[in-house]
Amino acid sequence: MAVKTLTIDGRPVSAQEDATILQACTEAGIKLPTLCHLDGVYDVGACRLCLVEVTGNNKLLPACTTKVREGMDIHTDTPKLRHYRKLTLELLFAERNHTCAVCVSNGHCELQSLAADCGMDHVRYEYQSPRWPVDQSHALYGMDHNRCILCTRCVRVCWHIEGAGTKNVAGRGAKCEVITDLKQPWADADTCTSCGKCVMSCPTGALFYRGASAGEMVRDRSRLEFIVNAREKQQWNA
Ligand code: SF4
Ligand code: SF4
Ligand code: FES
Repeated sequence: MAVKTLTIDGRPVSAQEDATILQACTEAGIKLPTLCHLDGVYDVGACRLCLVEVTGNNKLLPACTTKVREGMDIHTDTPKLRHYRKLTLELLFAERNHTCAVCVSNGHCELQSLAADCGMDHVRYEYQSPRWPVDQSHALYGMDHNRCILCTRCVRVCWHIEGAGTKNVAGRGAKCEVITDLKQPWADADTCTSCGKCVMSCPTGALFYRGASAGEMVRDRSRLEFIVNAREKQQWNA
């Protein structure tokens, strides 16, 4: 496969011609903040945390959904990007109810870690404090909509890794939510195989194993990675 040459943060880098900027950065050892990206699952550019600056382009571009081009001059860590990343994180915290101290994912949450890494120590926007339900109908798993950042990782994993198509997104704007089947309690979703892949993929405390209490929700990503890798390398057929 042909290779493109580009510059990332002043460093000459080469990347596969169909690579995304995020893949080129990862390959070059440059870490970008991400929330909706999950290795092995297609990207949708939902969280806008991986935005980068490209010389000659006055828009910020999501690294996970933008392909590399020959001669691109990419900047991943500028004052403008740091400003937008903080702002995006603050809005995520203000939109729903992220009370970390009592969250099942406290200490193991990607949103929380990213906020710390980006120096987000307070929220300048009014907390919306919406009233969202917690679905504890499923025997093994629960869904707390208060912690959901609508990254859609669970939806993509449910459709494209498990092939069940149970998780979906419904509604718009502030009413947007992740639903099971036709918006019924999780326990009544006939298509759900109870595989738990959605739970393993969630970056926050929105999806959890029932019985987990504050700080106890540690995800076993290695299981998900194993499934994704085996699928990509067609190890099922061996
Ligand atoms: S447990 Fe599996 S099938 Fe059920 S919603 Fe989650 S990913 Fe889909
Ligand atoms: S439940 Fe978790 S994985 Fe699904 S959209 Fe919400 S935060 Fe993302
Ligand atoms: S990781 Fe790129 S937009 Fe979320």
